[in-house]
Amino acid sequence: MDFDDDAPDLRSAHVIVVGNEKGGAGKSTISIHLAVALLKAGHKVACIDLDTRQQTLTRFFENRRSWSSHASRPIELPRHCAMERAETNDVRANEAREFALFAEAIDAVEHEYEFVVIDTPAHDSYLMRLAHSLADTLVSPLNDSFIDVDVFSRVHHDRAQRGAVAHYADLVMEARRKRRMVDNGVIDWVMVRNRMATIASNNARQVALSVSRLASELRFRVVDGLHDRVIFRELFPIGLTALDPIEEAGAGLNNSQTAARREIESLIEGLDLPGRVPGIEHLQARRLWHDRVATYYRELGAADWRAG
Ligand SMILES: Nc1ncnc2c1ncn2[C@@H]1O[C@H](COP(=O)(O)OP(=O)(O)OP(=O)(O)O)[C@@H](O)[C@H]1O
Ligand SMILES: [Mg+2]
Repeated sequence: MDFDDDAPDLRSAHVIVVGNEKGGAGKSTISIHLAVALLKAGHKVACIDLDTRQQTLTRFFENRRSWSSHASRPIELPRHCAMERAETNDVRANEAREFALFAEAIDAVEHEYEFVVIDTPAHDSYLMRLAHSLADTLVSPLNDSFIDVDVFSRVHHDRAQRGAVAHYADLVMEARRKRRMVDNGVIDWVMVRNRMATIASNNARQVALSVSRLASELRFRVVDGLHDRVIFRELFPIGLTALDPIEEAGAGLNNSQTAARREIESLIEGLDLPGRVPGIEHLQARRLWHDRVATYYRELGAADWRAG
Protein backbone atom coordinates (compact mmCIF):
# COMPACT_ATOMS: atom_id res chain seq x y z
CA MET A 1 0.00 0.00 0.00
CA ASP A 2 1.38 3.38 -0.96
CA PHE A 3 0.97 6.12 1.55
CA ASP A 4 1.17 9.60 0.19
CA ASP A 5 3.87 11.58 1.97
CA ASP A 6 1.44 14.43 2.55
CA ALA A 7 0.11 14.36 6.09
CA PRO A 8 -3.69 14.17 6.19
CA ASP A 9 -5.71 17.09 7.40
CA LEU A 10 -6.48 15.84 10.89
CA ARG A 11 -9.46 16.87 12.96
CA SER A 12 -8.82 17.09 16.70
CA ALA A 13 -11.18 14.22 17.53
CA HIS A 14 -9.71 10.75 17.26
CA VAL A 15 -12.58 8.56 16.08
CA ILE A 16 -12.83 5.10 17.62
CA VAL A 17 -15.40 2.93 15.89
CA VAL A 18 -16.36 -0.30 17.61
CA GLY A 19 -17.64 -2.67 14.97
CA ASN A 20 -18.11 -6.28 13.98
CA GLU A 21 -20.95 -7.86 12.05
CA LYS A 22 -21.01 -10.74 14.51
CA GLY A 23 -23.90 -9.99 16.86
CA GLY A 24 -23.19 -10.14 20.57
CA ALA A 25 -19.39 -10.06 20.22
CA GLY A 26 -19.15 -7.32 22.84
CA LYS A 27 -19.23 -4.06 20.81
CA SER A 28 -21.40 -2.16 23.27
CA THR A 29 -19.57 -3.53 26.33
CA ILE A 30 -16.22 -2.46 24.87
CA SER A 31 -17.63 0.95 23.79
CA ILE A 32 -18.89 1.58 27.33
CA HIS A 33 -15.59 0.69 28.96
CA LEU A 34 -13.47 2.62 26.45
CA ALA A 35 -15.60 5.75 26.81
CA VAL A 36 -15.51 5.64 30.61
CA ALA A 37 -11.76 4.89 30.69
CA LEU A 38 -11.01 7.85 28.41
CA LEU A 39 -13.25 10.14 30.47
CA LYS A 40 -11.48 9.02 33.63
CA ALA A 41 -8.12 9.77 32.02
CA GLY A 42 -9.35 13.37 31.72
CA HIS A 43 -10.12 13.41 27.99
CA LYS A 44 -13.00 15.23 26.37
CA VAL A 45 -15.10 12.38 25.04
CA ALA A 46 -18.17 12.32 22.80
CA CYS A 47 -20.15 9.17 22.05
CA ILE A 48 -22.42 8.31 19.14
CA ASP A 49 -24.78 5.34 19.23
CA LEU A 50 -25.47 4.03 15.74
CA ASP A 51 -27.45 1.05 16.93
CA THR A 52 -30.80 2.71 16.42
CA ARG A 53 -32.71 -0.40 17.51
CA GLN A 54 -31.02 -1.69 20.67
CA GLN A 55 -29.44 1.62 21.76
CA THR A 56 -27.35 -0.16 24.39
CA LEU A 57 -24.79 2.65 24.68
CA THR A 58 -27.57 5.23 24.95
CA ARG A 59 -29.33 3.21 27.65
CA PHE A 60 -26.05 2.85 29.57
CA PHE A 61 -25.45 6.60 29.63
CA GLU A 62 -29.08 7.28 30.56
CA ASN A 63 -28.59 4.96 33.52
CA ARG A 64 -25.30 6.65 34.37
CA ARG A 65 -26.84 10.12 34.22
CA SER A 66 -29.68 9.02 36.46
CA TRP A 67 -27.29 7.37 38.96
CA SER A 68 -25.04 10.45 38.97
CA SER A 69 -27.96 12.67 40.00
CA HIS A 70 -28.15 10.70 43.29
CA ALA A 71 -24.45 9.98 43.82
CA SER A 72 -22.52 11.88 46.46
CA ARG A 73 -19.63 12.65 44.08
CA PRO A 74 -19.63 13.67 40.44
CA ILE A 75 -19.57 10.95 37.80
CA GLU A 76 -17.99 11.63 34.43
CA LEU A 77 -20.37 11.81 31.48
CA PRO A 78 -19.58 12.19 27.78
CA ARG A 79 -21.50 14.25 25.28
CA HIS A 80 -23.82 11.62 23.85
CA CYS A 81 -25.76 11.44 20.59
CA ALA A 82 -28.18 8.64 19.66
CA MET A 83 -28.69 8.43 15.91
CA GLU A 84 -32.13 8.09 14.41
CA ARG A 85 -32.88 5.77 11.57
CA ALA A 86 -34.71 7.18 8.53
CA GLU A 87 -37.43 4.71 7.61
CA THR A 88 -39.39 5.97 4.65
CA ASN A 89 -39.93 3.87 1.50
CA ASP A 90 -37.41 5.96 -0.40
CA VAL A 91 -33.97 4.38 0.18
CA ARG A 92 -32.04 7.32 -1.33
CA ALA A 93 -33.93 9.85 0.74
CA ASN A 94 -33.26 7.73 3.85
CA GLU A 95 -29.53 7.66 3.12
CA ALA A 96 -29.44 11.39 2.50
CA ARG A 97 -31.26 12.02 5.78
CA GLU A 98 -29.00 9.66 7.74
CA PHE A 99 -25.91 11.18 6.15
CA ALA A 100 -27.07 14.67 7.14
CA LEU A 101 -27.78 13.62 10.74
CA PHE A 102 -24.48 11.80 11.08
CA ALA A 103 -22.50 14.66 9.52
CA GLU A 104 -24.20 17.02 11.96
CA ALA A 105 -23.27 14.79 14.92
CA ILE A 106 -19.63 14.63 13.78
CA ASP A 107 -19.42 18.36 12.94
CA ALA A 108 -20.60 19.18 16.43
CA VAL A 109 -17.69 17.39 18.09
CA GLU A 110 -14.79 16.95 15.68
CA HIS A 111 -12.90 20.10 16.63
CA GLU A 112 -13.84 20.35 20.26
CA TYR A 113 -13.45 16.82 21.54
CA GLU A 114 -10.38 14.61 21.81
CA PHE A 115 -12.11 11.28 21.28
CA VAL A 116 -15.34 10.16 19.66
CA VAL A 117 -16.46 6.61 20.50
CA ILE A 118 -18.99 5.17 18.03
CA ASP A 119 -20.89 1.97 18.81
CA THR A 120 -22.28 0.26 15.73
CA PRO A 121 -24.98 -2.36 15.14
CA ALA A 122 -24.24 -5.90 14.02
CA HIS A 123 -26.16 -5.55 10.77
CA ASP A 124 -24.79 -3.99 7.63
CA SER A 125 -26.33 -0.58 6.96
CA TYR A 126 -25.50 2.64 5.19
CA LEU A 127 -24.73 4.43 8.45
CA MET A 128 -22.60 1.63 9.77
CA ARG A 129 -20.46 1.66 6.58
CA LEU A 130 -20.18 5.42 6.71
CA ALA A 131 -18.95 5.30 10.30
CA HIS A 132 -16.35 2.65 9.46
CA SER A 133 -14.83 4.87 6.79
CA LEU A 134 -14.40 7.65 9.39
CA ALA A 135 -12.58 5.47 11.92
CA ASP A 136 -9.05 6.27 12.98
CA THR A 137 -9.05 3.26 15.25
CA LEU A 138 -11.45 0.43 14.46
CA VAL A 139 -11.95 -1.93 17.38
CA SER A 140 -13.47 -5.32 16.59
CA PRO A 141 -14.29 -7.50 19.58
CA LEU A 142 -13.81 -11.17 18.90
CA ASN A 143 -14.81 -14.13 21.05
CA ASP A 144 -12.66 -17.25 21.14
CA SER A 145 -14.83 -19.04 18.61
CA PHE A 146 -14.45 -20.03 14.97
CA ILE A 147 -17.96 -18.66 14.40
CA ASP A 148 -16.55 -15.21 15.20
CA VAL A 149 -13.55 -15.71 12.90
CA ASP A 150 -15.84 -16.74 10.04
CA VAL A 151 -17.11 -13.18 9.53
CA PHE A 152 -13.52 -12.15 8.62
CA SER A 153 -12.26 -15.15 6.76
CA ARG A 154 -14.10 -18.32 5.80
CA VAL A 155 -13.37 -21.14 8.20
CA HIS A 156 -13.74 -24.59 6.61
CA HIS A 157 -12.40 -28.12 7.10
CA ASP A 158 -11.56 -28.26 3.38
CA ARG A 159 -8.43 -26.23 2.64
CA ALA A 160 -9.72 -25.25 -0.80
CA GLN A 161 -12.70 -23.48 0.72
CA ARG A 162 -10.80 -21.92 3.59
CA GLY A 163 -9.44 -18.38 3.82
CA ALA A 164 -11.69 -16.43 1.45
CA VAL A 165 -12.16 -12.90 2.70
CA ALA A 166 -15.58 -12.80 4.33
CA HIS A 167 -18.19 -10.04 4.43
CA TYR A 168 -17.03 -7.99 7.39
CA ALA A 169 -13.37 -7.93 6.31
CA ASP A 170 -14.58 -6.85 2.85
CA LEU A 171 -16.51 -4.02 4.43
CA VAL A 172 -13.41 -2.86 6.34
CA MET A 173 -11.28 -2.94 3.21
CA GLU A 174 -13.84 -0.87 1.36
CA ALA A 175 -13.85 1.59 4.29
CA ARG A 176 -10.05 1.81 4.11
CA ARG A 177 -10.15 2.51 0.37
CA LYS A 178 -12.75 5.25 0.82
CA ARG A 179 -10.84 6.77 3.68
CA ARG A 180 -7.62 6.92 1.72
CA MET A 181 -9.41 8.68 -1.14
CA VAL A 182 -11.17 11.18 1.11
CA ASP A 183 -8.34 12.44 3.31
CA ASN A 184 -5.42 10.07 2.89
CA GLY A 185 -6.19 8.77 6.36
CA VAL A 186 -5.26 5.40 7.78
CA ILE A 187 -7.50 3.07 9.77
CA ASP A 188 -5.78 1.15 12.55
CA TRP A 189 -7.83 -2.03 12.80
CA VAL A 190 -7.50 -3.73 16.16
CA MET A 191 -9.01 -7.10 16.94
CA VAL A 192 -9.80 -7.24 20.65
CA ARG A 193 -10.35 -10.62 22.23
CA ASN A 194 -13.41 -10.55 24.44
CA ARG A 195 -15.03 -12.88 26.95
CA MET A 196 -11.80 -14.82 27.24
CA ALA A 197 -12.05 -17.84 29.52
CA THR A 198 -9.87 -17.83 32.59
CA ILE A 199 -8.72 -21.36 31.85
CA ALA A 200 -7.05 -21.60 28.44
CA SER A 201 -8.58 -24.27 26.21
CA ASN A 202 -7.28 -25.99 23.13
CA ASN A 203 -10.07 -24.34 21.12
CA ALA A 204 -9.01 -20.86 22.32
CA ARG A 205 -5.42 -21.61 21.29
CA GLN A 206 -6.54 -22.78 17.83
CA VAL A 207 -8.68 -19.68 17.34
CA ALA A 208 -5.83 -17.41 18.49
CA LEU A 209 -3.47 -19.12 16.03
CA SER A 210 -5.91 -18.75 13.17
CA VAL A 211 -6.49 -15.04 13.99
CA SER A 212 -2.77 -14.31 14.20
CA ARG A 213 -2.29 -15.91 10.75
CA LEU A 214 -4.95 -13.62 9.31
CA ALA A 215 -3.49 -10.47 10.87
CA SER A 216 -0.90 -9.64 8.22
CA GLU A 217 -3.14 -10.63 5.31
CA LEU A 218 -6.07 -8.49 6.44
CA ARG A 219 -3.81 -5.96 8.15
CA PHE A 220 -5.08 -5.82 11.68
CA ARG A 221 -3.45 -6.01 15.08
CA VAL A 222 -4.60 -8.30 17.86
CA VAL A 223 -4.74 -7.29 21.50
CA ASP A 224 -5.99 -9.17 24.52
CA GLY A 225 -9.14 -7.55 25.78
CA LEU A 226 -11.51 -8.62 28.48
CA HIS A 227 -12.10 -11.91 30.23
CA ASP A 228 -15.64 -13.09 30.76
CA ARG A 229 -16.48 -11.43 34.07
CA VAL A 230 -19.76 -10.71 35.78
CA ILE A 231 -18.51 -7.23 36.67
CA PHE A 232 -18.44 -6.30 32.96
CA ARG A 233 -22.21 -6.73 32.80
CA GLU A 234 -23.72 -6.44 36.27
CA LEU A 235 -23.30 -2.66 36.66
CA PHE A 236 -25.24 -1.75 33.50
CA PRO A 237 -28.52 -0.91 35.34
CA ILE A 238 -26.77 1.83 37.32
CA GLY A 239 -24.55 2.97 34.48
CA LEU A 240 -21.30 2.23 36.29
CA THR A 241 -18.25 0.20 35.37
CA ALA A 242 -15.42 -1.53 37.21
CA LEU A 243 -13.50 1.73 36.79
CA ASP A 244 -15.98 3.66 38.94
CA PRO A 245 -16.10 3.75 42.72
CA ILE A 246 -18.88 1.20 43.20
CA GLU A 247 -18.99 1.18 47.00
CA GLU A 248 -22.10 3.37 46.93
CA ALA A 249 -23.82 0.69 44.92
CA GLY A 250 -23.14 -1.69 47.79
CA ALA A 251 -20.05 -3.36 46.39
CA GLY A 252 -16.48 -3.03 47.61
CA LEU A 253 -13.28 -3.24 45.62
CA ASN A 254 -12.68 -6.96 45.25
CA ASN A 255 -10.33 -9.13 43.25
CA SER A 256 -12.64 -9.21 40.26
CA GLN A 257 -12.87 -5.41 40.09
CA THR A 258 -9.11 -5.05 40.46
CA ALA A 259 -8.52 -7.58 37.68
CA ALA A 260 -11.17 -5.95 35.47
CA ARG A 261 -9.53 -2.53 35.92
CA ARG A 262 -6.18 -3.96 34.97
CA GLU A 263 -7.67 -5.50 31.82
CA ILE A 264 -9.27 -2.23 30.74
CA GLU A 265 -6.02 -0.34 31.37
CA SER A 266 -4.04 -2.83 29.34
CA LEU A 267 -6.67 -2.72 26.58
CA ILE A 268 -6.26 1.07 26.37
CA GLU A 269 -2.50 0.62 26.27
CA GLY A 270 -2.80 -2.00 23.51
CA LEU A 271 -4.97 0.31 21.41
CA ASP A 272 -2.04 2.74 21.34
CA LEU A 273 -4.24 5.82 21.02
CA PRO A 274 -2.84 9.34 20.78
CA GLY A 275 -2.15 9.91 24.46
CA ARG A 276 -1.77 12.91 26.66
CA VAL A 277 1.91 13.75 26.69
CA PRO A 278 3.22 16.69 28.75
CA GLY A 279 4.13 19.57 26.45
CA ILE A 280 2.44 18.04 23.41
CA GLU A 281 -0.92 19.30 22.18
CA HIS A 282 -3.58 16.74 21.36
CA LEU A 283 -3.46 17.58 17.64
CA GLN A 284 0.29 17.09 17.61
CA ALA A 285 -0.18 13.76 19.43
CA ARG A 286 -2.68 12.83 16.68
CA ARG A 287 -0.09 13.61 14.00
CA LEU A 288 2.56 11.52 15.75
CA TRP A 289 -0.02 8.73 16.05
CA HIS A 290 -0.80 8.93 12.33
CA ASP A 291 2.88 8.74 11.35
CA ARG A 292 3.43 5.79 13.66
CA VAL A 293 0.42 3.85 12.37
CA ALA A 294 1.08 4.65 8.71
CA THR A 295 4.66 3.41 9.12
CA TYR A 296 3.45 0.26 10.87
CA TYR A 297 1.10 -0.69 8.04
CA ARG A 298 3.60 0.30 5.35
CA GLU A 299 6.19 -1.98 6.91
CA LEU A 300 3.65 -4.75 7.32
CA GLY A 301 3.47 -4.70 3.54
CA ALA A 302 0.43 -4.92 1.37
CA ALA A 303 1.28 -6.98 -1.67
CA ASP A 304 -2.22 -8.41 -1.50
CA TRP A 305 -4.70 -6.65 -3.78
CA ARG A 306 -7.40 -7.01 -1.15
CA ALA A 307 -5.51 -4.73 1.19
CA GLY A 308 -6.72 -1.76 -0.82
N1 LIG B 1 -16.19 -9.42 28.84
C1 LIG B 1 -17.46 -9.75 29.15
N2 LIG B 1 -17.74 -10.39 30.30
C2 LIG B 1 -19.02 -10.74 30.61
N3 LIG B 1 -20.07 -10.50 29.82
C3 LIG B 1 -19.85 -9.87 28.64
C4 LIG B 1 -18.55 -9.46 28.25
N4 LIG B 1 -18.64 -8.86 27.04
C5 LIG B 1 -19.94 -8.89 26.70
N5 LIG B 1 -20.67 -9.50 27.65
C6 LIG B 1 -22.14 -9.79 27.61
O1 LIG B 1 -22.38 -10.41 26.34
C7 LIG B 1 -23.61 -9.93 25.78
C8 LIG B 1 -23.34 -9.26 24.42
O2 LIG B 1 -22.51 -8.13 24.66
P1 LIG B 1 -22.77 -6.75 23.91
O3 LIG B 1 -24.21 -6.35 24.00
O4 LIG B 1 -21.75 -5.80 24.40
O5 LIG B 1 -22.43 -7.21 22.42
P2 LIG B 1 -22.72 -6.44 21.06
O6 LIG B 1 -21.66 -6.85 20.10
O7 LIG B 1 -22.87 -4.99 21.32
O8 LIG B 1 -24.12 -7.06 20.63
P3 LIG B 1 -25.04 -6.56 19.40
O9 LIG B 1 -24.40 -7.12 18.17
O10 LIG B 1 -26.36 -7.19 19.71
O11 LIG B 1 -25.05 -5.07 19.43
C9 LIG B 1 -24.21 -8.99 26.82
O12 LIG B 1 -25.07 -9.74 27.63
C10 LIG B 1 -22.98 -8.53 27.62
O13 LIG B 1 -23.32 -8.15 28.95
MG1 LIG C 1 -24.43 -3.64 20.84
